[in-house]
Amino acid sequence: MYYRRFARDFIFSVSSILLLAVVVLVSELLKPPVAKTITASEHKATIRSWEYVDGFPERIAVFQTVFWEPRDTNSMREMIETTDLVRGKRVLEIGTGSGLVSLCCLRAGATKVVATDVNPHAIENARYNADVLGVAERLEAKLVPTNEPNAYEVLGPDEKFDVILSNPPWENAKPRTIDEYALYDRDFQLLGSILHGARSRLNPGGRLLLAYGCRDAIKVLEALSTDAKLSTKRLDPRSLDALPDLFLPGMLVEVLPQTGKF
Ligand SMILES: C[S@@+](CC[C@H](N)C(=O)[O-])C[C@H]1O[C@@H](n2cnc3c(N)ncnc32)[C@H](O)[C@@H]1O
Repeated sequence: MYYRRFARDFIFSVSSILLLAVVVLVSELLKPPVAKTITASEHKATIRSWEYVDGFPERIAVFQTVFWEPRDTNSMREMIETTDLVRGKRVLEIGTGSGLVSLCCLRAGATKVVATDVNPHAIENARYNADVLGVAERLEAKLVPTNEPNAYEVLGPDEKFDVILSNPPWENAKPRTIDEYALYDRDFQLLGSILHGARSRLNPGGRLLLAYGCRDAIKVLEALSTDAKLSTKRLDPRSLDALPDLFLPGMLVEVLPQTGKF
């Protein structure tokens, strides 16, 4: 009698434990995968995705809140990769996002790239990707304060570059969240500051190239360039007026002094 009760209690306990183990296992298996958290830096940021880009052999990490539309800069990256635009040069990228364009410059032989952004996750993101690609020692990523968004705010007073690149935000609106800084440039203040400061920030013969996937923003760029006594050259065979307001791949536009060269 005693043995039968013991056997019954034993079987009940073992089956309860097994049932519990199965429940725990199934609930663990059903949990969504946990995103990798970067803790090795002051701003904890999270990788949103890993991306492959045409013509770029390595995977690129894209952090939460950071802009990702590589087709905006297809022609800019093609020029970087297939010409001597940045080889042996000092480059400034304004608004680096994931760092994709800066990484292309570093892989194409730029001696130094200074990359800026207002989004702290973008700064982390660019540094992280540069680390993974082994080019971090030539990248200086600098956070721009949102209350001082001038394009050259975070540079040293005499710092100059051979090439300035940007795929700036394209819409005139006030950003309300940090990710909206990728889209909105209130009163085109950032764009205006890029143009007005270019002469003092470029070395003789330097080049300023902007990429946009927005027709109206290119027209604003052209008008603001005229105001700043600069001219523009679309490095793209497509007719801007035949394109929809938002289009991909983006168009590369070179900004030059009206006299010809910086
Ligand atoms: C359209 S996204 C381009 C990102 C990246 N260059 C790319 O092509 O993937 C524009 C970037 O500019 C940044 N940005 C906006 N205002 C800025 C400012 N005043 N100074 C520096 N970066 C700024 C945004 O946070 C965003 O990362």
